[in-house]
Amino acid sequence: MSTREHYTGLKYPDWIESLTEAKTAVEKEQFRRYILRLRDRQSTRDIDQKSVEILDQVLHLHEYVRARGIACYVSKGSEVDTRPLIRKALDSNKRVLVPVVKKGDIDLFFSEIKDLGKELAPGSFNIPEPRPEFLRPESLDAVDVMFIPGIVWDKEGYRLGWGRGYFDRILKTLPEHVRSIGLSFNLQLVSRVPRDQFDLPANTVVTESRVVRCHS
Ligand SMILES: Nc1ncnc2c1ncn2[C@@H]1O[C@H](COP(=O)(O)OP(=O)(O)O)[C@@H](O)[C@H]1O
Ligand SMILES: [Mg+2]
Repeated sequence: MSTREHYTGLKYPDWIESLTEAKTAVEKEQFRRYILRLRDRQSTRDIDQKSVEILDQVLHLHEYVRARGIACYVSKGSEVDTRPLIRKALDSNKRVLVPVVKKGDIDLFFSEIKDLGKELAPGSFNIPEPRPEFLRPESLDAVDVMFIPGIVWDKEGYRLGWGRGYFDRILKTLPEHVRSIGLSFNLQLVSRVPRDQFDLPANTVVTESRVVRCHS
């Protein structure tokens, strides 16, 4: 049963469902484009400064403090910079896993990183990934917290990524004990992100001035 049917009790023809999905896809694309432009307009200095403020908030979260292992995206371009976080986690003897996109595969896998300075090189979509000699595939059972990138976020933890659905598929199979945390600049937070049925929210969103606890 579709969400629409569930709430209205009415059976809609399939073509109406498809039309709704198409409309959501267009809205998602408009949100991505608009927010990405704002995010890209920040200076490197701004991005660095705000990323440090976000890191400060993260370091105080009980789920981070308690975590023996974390999974964290390696940032690129105008994303919230995760290098200081990864460095800090490694210094505190937490295990750190980073996402890897296998060519031709629609799913991510995770690989343990031990030295941020020397193990990475640009991989798929130009995202920094462990070079082949440093690949150490690990299950997410090894982590307690996962940090998620996004282009747009809302206060219920819903997000828009690059439109490939990688993190929706990861969140669907995330081990029960793993808490998901979205990292976002304030300017990426909107009141409501357009949603499809397969979209899944993060548990928490952290910005430079807020820790947003979501319902999930
Ligand atoms: N759980 C899932 N299983 C299979 N495909 C999925 C799943 N979640 C998302 N997708 C696919 O990923 C594509 C992109 O999803 P979308 O939410 O627009 O991207 P993003 O979350 O990266 O912004 C969709 O076409 C959808 O079919
Ligand atoms: Mg999605």
